[in-house]
Amino acid sequence: MKIICCCFSGTGNTARACGELLKKLEQLGHETALFPIRADAERPALADCDCLLIGYPVHGFNAPKPVLQFLKTLGKAQNKTPCYLVRTSGEPLKLNNASGVTPKRILRKKGYAVLGEFHYVLPYNIIFRHSDGMAARMLRGLELRLPADAQKISALRPSLAKAGPLARFISFVCRIEHTAMPVIGRHFRATERCIGCGRCASVCPQGNIRMEDGRPKFGKSCAGCMGCAFSCPEDAIHTAVFNGWRVNGAYSFDGGPASDDEICKYCRKAYLRYFHEGEDRPEISQ
Ligand SMILES: Cc1cc2nc3c(=O)[nH]c(=O)nc-3n(C[C@H](O)[C@H](O)[C@H](O)COP(=O)(O)O)c2cc1C
Repeated sequence: MKIICCCFSGTGNTARACGELLKKLEQLGHETALFPIRADAERPALADCDCLLIGYPVHGFNAPKPVLQFLKTLGKAQNKTPCYLVRTSGEPLKLNNASGVTPKRILRKKGYAVLGEFHYVLPYNIIFRHSDGMAARMLRGLELRLPADAQKISALRPSLAKAGPLARFISFVCRIEHTAMPVIGRHFRATERCIGCGRCASVCPQGNIRMEDGRPKFGKSCAGCMGCAFSCPEDAIHTAVFNGWRVNGAYSFDGGPASDDEICKYCRKAYLRYFHEGEDRPEISQ
């Protein structure tokens, strides 16, 4: 099959998960291509695509707005093209499944056969910084699930997630983020630590940051991905009302994975369930 993956990623987690999944699919003999969902990126030609993957990070129990906008601009699918969602989130709550509801609705309207969803937990890029041990355990969780998930895609097997009425309601309420983020993002600013390197402008998937006199200027189309604040080498981006939740700097995944006793207290039960599902039964992705 020719498998095309279109992926939105603010801080690299989703791009990493999609890239690793595509590698596994190549090992199974498929031809793959990865297209970032970015304002400045080339759009894929989907006419000869046999299977479409859509990658996104969960934002407020929803898919980010640029992902929904991207899906709305897709042409009609040829012959009910099979499609899977590939998402990442910082916590393993089932509530995150509701983020697939709107993407699935749009894709089905476009004539795609949405067969499944794969969900991987990777470290937070907002709220708080996970320990590197947690990051390493999450990466292990991803690596353990990928072979079985690639097999499911390869065989076009269904793997849909469920989202109950409460999760859908919470997701609906949190969709306010799609309206609020462009307003909040206008108040992002560089602090005196800014060295004018322009990294924030180059990573922004929305092309929302332009450099003016060596300083970043934030426009009106912020999607709240936190790519700017996360990747700033000087931690110089003040993220307005989200500043207390700012996470800066890449995680190191190289150390030893956190043991069960070292799992963070926040959502501890859910993390333990997610890690053990992957370690004991890697065929379970949801
Ligand atoms: C604005 C925003 C909202 C988020 N909301 C959620 C959420 O509702 N649930 C969750 O588990 N993680 C949430 N996260 C964490 C990200 O989903 C997670 O870190 C993801 O792996 C980031 O992927 P990326 O590096 O590809 O952007 C949120 C992150 C951001 C920036």
